Amino acid sequence: MSLVQLRVPPADPGPGGGPLVDSQARTVRYLRVSLTDRCNYRCTYCMPQRPIEYGPRSAVLSLEEVGRLCEAFAQWGVERVRLTGGEPTLRRGLVDLVRRLSAIPTAQGTLEVVMTTNGERLEALAEPLARAGLRSLTVSLDSLDPARFTQITRRGDLSRVTAGLDAARAAGLAPIKLNVVALDGFNDEELPQIVRWAWSRDIVPRFIELMPMASGELFVPGELMLAAQIRARVAEGLGIALQSDDGAGVAGAGPATYWRAVGGAFDGRRLGTIAAMTENFCQSCNRLRVSATGQLHACLARDDTGDLRSALRSKDPDRLEHVVRTVLGTKRDAHGFNMDGSGGPTKAMVSIGG
Ligand code: 5AD
Ligand code: SF4
Repeated sequence: MSLVQLRVPPADPGPGGGPLVDSQARTVRYLRVSLTDRCNYRCTYCMPQRPIEYGPRSAVLSLEEVGRLCEAFAQWGVERVRLTGGEPTLRRGLVDLVRRLSAIPTAQGTLEVVMTTNGERLEALAEPLARAGLRSLTVSLDSLDPARFTQITRRGDLSRVTAGLDAARAAGLAPIKLNVVALDGFNDEELPQIVRWAWSRDIVPRFIELMPMASGELFVPGELMLAAQIRARVAEGLGIALQSDDGAGVAGAGPATYWRAVGGAFDGRRLGTIAAMTENFCQSCNRLRVSATGQLHACLARDDTGDLRSALRSKDPDRLEHVVRTVLGTKRDAHGFNMDGSGGPTKAMVSIGG
C-alpha cells in the first residue's frame, strides 16, 4: 500500500512536533536503518534463491541522506539507531557514517549507534567501528558446524565469522549478541552447544522464531521451533533451569525476552528468545524501520510504507515530518503473522532491513 492509499488521516503535529507517539501510546525511541538491500550471504529463510532484481544505485539513500534522517529522528526523541541490511558492512563509508551518527545529540547525550551483521567482514572492521563510536553489535549465526553454516547461508564461511566475533570482543564491543534462527531439523540439536559456546565467550545468544516473510515463500511450517520448545531444549541439553529475567544490561529496546540460567557452571548467564509467532510483543514495540531505499515501515509484518527518500530529496522542509507522522498513524496494535505462513509482508527480510 502506498502512502496515497492510506486511509488514516495524518496527525497534525504542528511545526517541529514532539516525540513520536502512536495511537497505542507507544513512543518510538528506536530506529532501524538498512544501509543496503544486498548481502554477501543468501540465508535460506531470508533471501530467495532466484536472482534478486536491484534498482539503480540512486534508489538507495546516500550516507548524507541517512545522516540527515537520523538527525531528524533524534530531534523527535529517537535515542538509538541500529544499522542493518542486507549486510551493512558492504556499504562503503560505514565507519565514517558511524562516527557521524554517534555525534548526533539526543536528550540523553548522543545517539547510540549499534549494528546487526553477518560477521563476514568484521575481522577488519571491528576495531575501526569501535573507535568510530559503535556501542554494540549483533551477529547472525545459525550453526557452529562449518558445513551446516555454509548450507544455511548458501555461501558463508564460519571461520570468518568466528574470527570477526573474536575481533569484536578484542575491540571491546560489548555486549555482543548472537542472533540464531532456530529451525527444527536443521540446528535444533545444536542449540545447547551454541549457548555453551556463546556463554564461554561472554556473548548473549538469542533465538528467533522463524517468521513468514516474502508472502510465506521462504517459510517451511515444519521448521518452526516455538520459543518455549527452544528454551526447553537448551535447559535439558545443559542440565540447567531457565528463569525469566529482565535482561538488564543486554536488553535493548527490542522484542527479546531474557532468561537466566539457574544452576550448573553457567549460573546467572542469560539468553534471549524472540517469539514473534507465539509470545506477541507488539504492545512494547517502540521502533520504526527504514529500508535501504528510504521506505519507512511501521511494522516488519506489513507492507504499508511511507516514502522518506522523496521527502529527503524534496525542497519542502516539512515533508519529511509529515511522512513520518503519517506512517506512525498506521502503526497497528499487532502484527499479522500466522503459523501457516500467511499474514506476513510480501518483502523478504533482506529488503526491509532485519
Ligand atoms: N525469520 C526469522 N528471522 C529472520 N531473519 C531474517 N529472516 C528471518 C525470518 N524469516 C533474522 C536474521 C537476522 C535478523 C535481523 O533477522 O537471521 O539475524
Ligand atoms: Fe544476509 Fe542476514 Fe539475510 Fe543472511 S539473514 S541473507 S546474512 S541479511
